[in-house]
Formats: sequence, structure tokens, C-alpha cells
Amino acid sequence: MQIRPATVSFDIAPYLEARRRIINRSLEKALKKRVKPGRLFDAMAYALLAPGKRLRPILCLAAAEVVGRPHSGVMAAACALEMIHTYSLIHDDLPAMDNDAIRRGRPTAHIQFDEATAILAGDALLTLAFEMLADAFRRSKSRPELWLQVIFEVSRAAGAQGMIEGQMQDIAAEGRGLSLERLQKMHCLKTGALIEASVKAGAVLAGADAGQMRQLKIYSKNIGLAFQVTDDILNVEGDPKLMGKAAGTDQCRKKSTYPGLMGLEESKRFAAHLVNNALQSLRFFDTKANPLSGLAEYVIYRKR
Ligand code: IPE
Ligand code: IPE
Ligand code: MG
Ligand code: MG
Repeated sequence: MQIRPATVSFDIAPYLEARRRIINRSLEKALKKRVKPGRLFDAMAYALLAPGKRLRPILCLAAAEVVGRPHSGVMAAACALEMIHTYSLIHDDLPAMDNDAIRRGRPTAHIQFDEATAILAGDALLTLAFEMLADAFRRSKSRPELWLQVIFEVSRAAGAQGMIEGQMQDIAAEGRGLSLERLQKMHCLKTGALIEASVKAGAVLAGADAGQMRQLKIYSKNIGLAFQVTDDILNVEGDPKLMGKAAGTDQCRKKSTYPGLMGLEESKRFAAHLVNNALQSLRFFDTKANPLSGLAEYVIYRKR
């Protein structure tokens, strides 16, 4: 993409790499600790430990970092968010939904295993996420009410008032052109809600004040929408080998997308505009916001 917002000097690549490594270790540990070996474990591990970008857990950790008083348990929230995200991908790829065969560079869970196993692995990942959050609440020695707030926010973002409603609207809109306003609402729900909750969870656990929360909400709303607009753009012009999933599928399924509605160039301009808004919201913070700034840029310059 050629349109760049105000640049930031932070090199995000090594930061992402280091964060991915510790998140992957924590995900594996959590799964092994809580799920006994067997076919269900294998399907859960197959989807969860596949090479995803780990954007949501990284945002959760980076939001705690910007507030400056990271809570020792924030990794549990980060892992729970990735489990919910992975479950949503398993179900999103099912024949009854987007019917996709490749995800994270590998056959989708229902192809590698079977449909019933994929559905159940998704169900189990969603449930495991809330087990982890509840366990963190149970064990929390200082300020357990912060965990309750996180459980509340994540539940709302993942369910019928967030991601699932967005997925419902996405399926219902197939073959019917949505207005720009309806498309934006759908994207904010199906993808934005969990991204917003990821930032919020990290900030809540780090004890953010109302002013910090306000700025981080603007940040996360903007990158959440920019992320899905970019997903739509990559579906048109991305390289399937780099993305680890098929391209051109939105058009085949007559999905409502930004490039479909406003064209590629205008969609890129819009995504860059959203990222600029996100960067502006971070001016409130000091250099501890560098990872969040780098992440905002990464949302639109990523190739996968
Ligand atoms: C893909 O999410 C689905 C969307 C919400 C657009 P990601 O692009 O974050 O997928 P992974 O986790 O890197 O595989
Ligand atoms: C996925 O949206 C959103 C969720 C899984 C909640 P898409 O269907 O547009 O994402 P990809 O392109 O399959 O990753
Ligand atoms: Mg979908
Ligand atoms: Mg899909």
C-alpha cells in the first residue's frame, strides 16, 4: 500500500517477534495444563498453535504497557483473547459459514479433522478462555474486581452484542449490497469489538484512569475498523502464500466489503485515515506508546 500516515520511528518487527514467542509459549502451557490429551486436544492445539499474528494478545500486553503498571496476570487475559479469536476463525471457516480450506497456512480445522471435531474444538476454546479468566479472578490477590470487569467486557465483545452479531450480519449480507453505514457497523462488530476488548482488557488490568481509557478507546475503535478494511483489501490483492489463506473469496461469495463498495484506492485511503486517528489518540501518552503506534501502522502495512 502506498498511502502512509504520519510515520513512527519504532521498529515493530522485533517487538512483534518477541511478543509472539512468549504468547505462543503461554498458549501451549495453558492448553496442556487444562485439556487432557486426545482428539479434542489435538484439534484445539492444531488451530490455536498455528502461526497466527497474535495481534489481539499483543494489543492486550501493549495496552497494559502504555498505562505503565502492568498487572502480573495480564498474560492470562492475552491468552484468553487469542483462544476466543481462534475459535471464531475455526467456525468462520466452516462450510456453513465461509467454507474456507486454508487458514494460517494450513488446512482448516474441519478439513484436517472433520466438521464435528472442528465445531467442538471451537466450542472448547471459547469455554477455555472464560475458564482462564475466571481462574485469574479466583486467584487474584489484589483488585479481583478488575478481572470481573475484563470478563464482562470480553463477554460483551465476543457475543451477541459484538463479534457474533457481526458474523450474523456478515452472513445475512451475502449477495445483498450493504450501505456504507451498515458495512461499517458490521465490521466494527465482527472484528472491531474483540480488538477493542483486547486493548481495554490490558488497560483495565494495568489500572488505567478514565483519561487513559478514553484515548485508548479512540485508538482501538480506529485500528479495529482499519484491521477489517485491510482484511478486505488483502482479500482482493494480497498474496495467498503470505496471508496463509485464500484470496478472492469475498467476491466469490458476494460478501459486502470496503473495496466492493468504495474501490481499492479509496479503501486504502480510508484505512490510512483511521490509523492516523489512532496515532493522534496516542499523543496523550509518552514513549511507552511506541509499541501501540507501531501496531497501528502494522495493521495496514501487513502482508498477512
Ligand atoms: C482474521 O484475523 C480474521 C479477521 C478478524 C479479519 P487475523 O488476521 O488476526 O488472523 P490470524 O490470527 O493472524 O490468523
Ligand atoms: C472474520 O471475518 C471475522 C471473524 C472470524 C469474527 P472474515 O471472514 O472476513 O475473515 P477471514 O478473511 O476469513 O480471515
Ligand atoms: Mg467471515
Ligand atoms: Mg472468513
